[in-house]
Amino acid sequence: MYATYTVAQLREVLAGYRRAGDRVALVPTMGNLHAGHMALVERARELAERVVVSVYVNPTQFGPGEDFEDYPRTFETDRERLLAAGVDVLFAPSTAEVYPDGPSAVAVTVDRVTEGLCGAGRPGHFGGVATIVAKLLCAARPDYAVFGKKDYQQWVVVRRLARNLLLDVAIEAAPIVREADGLALSSRNGYLSPAERQTAPCLYRALQEAVRAVEARSMDAREVEGEARRRLEECGMEPEYVEVRRREDLAEVTDLAGPRVLLAAAYLGGTRLIDNLEFGPS
Ligand code: PAJ
Repeated sequence: MYATYTVAQLREVLAGYRRAGDRVALVPTMGNLHAGHMALVERARELAERVVVSVYVNPTQFGPGEDFEDYPRTFETDRERLLAAGVDVLFAPSTAEVYPDGPSAVAVTVDRVTEGLCGAGRPGHFGGVATIVAKLLCAARPDYAVFGKKDYQQWVVVRRLARNLLLDVAIEAAPIVREADGLALSSRNGYLSPAERQTAPCLYRALQEAVRAVEARSMDAREVEGEARRRLEECGMEPEYVEVRRREDLAEVTDLAGPRVLLAAAYLGGTRLIDNLEFGPS
C-alpha cells in the first residue's frame, strides 16, 4: 500500500494506474476505521481495480463546541487495517495541503438538501462536508466515490454536489453496517458509557417499530414520526429530529405513497447518534 500526504504524490500514483487502464474508487473517511468503513472499501473493490482511502479529520465540518479536538485519531491502526484489506493508496493530507490558502479561501455550498435534518442542528456542517469532498474529488479525480447510507443526508448532499459541479464521478452508496443488537457502527459510539451503550440500540428499534406500525394500520408521515419519537423518549433518549422524507432528494412529505426514509438524530447523555431506515416501495 502506498501512503501519501501530498496531492502531488497522490496524482503521480493515480496517473500511473490510469496509464495502465485501471479505474479508481475513492472512499473518503475521517479515520478511526470500523467495519462500516471497511464495507465501503469492499464496495470500492468491486467497482474499480484500484482503491484509494482518504483519512482526514476535516475541521470545517465541525461547529464551535463540537468534538473536533476530541474526535478519535487512530492513524496507526487505521493504516494497518487498510493494508490488510488490500487498499492501494492511503491519502492522509495535512490541513495546509487541502486548504492551501486557509479554511475559508474557497467554500462550496449546496442548497436545499443541506437545510433541515442534521443541517438544522449543525449549521455549516454540510458546507464543510461539501467543500472537503469537492477537494478530495478534485485531488483524486476517481471514477467512483463510495459513501455510507449511515449518513444518509450526506450521501444526498454529495450526489447533488457532484451532479451540479459537473464532476465526472459516479457516487455509490453502501448499506449501514450494524452491531448484532442493531446499533449502527459509528466512531462516536466510543463516547457512550457502558449503560448508555445498552440503551443505544433503542434508536434503530424505534425506527423499525414505527415503520412496522405503518404495515399494521394506515398512517401519515406525522404519525410515523410521532410513533418513533415516543419510543425514543420512552428509552430515555432525547430526539433532536425524527422525520419522514422522500428518499431521492429528502423533500418533505405528508403521505407515505412512494419511496420514503425515516431519519432521526437523538442525544443519549452527551452523545449525538443518528440513524435512518428506508421503507415503502423502492
Ligand atoms: P466518517 O464519519 O469517517 O465516515 C466515512 C464514511 O463511512 C461515510 O460515507 C459514512 O457514511 C460511512 N459510514 C460510517 N459508519 C458507517 C456504517 N455503520 N455503515 C456504513 N457506512 C458507514 O462521513 C465522514 O467521515 C466525513 O463527513 C467525510 C465524508 C469523510 C468528509 O469529511
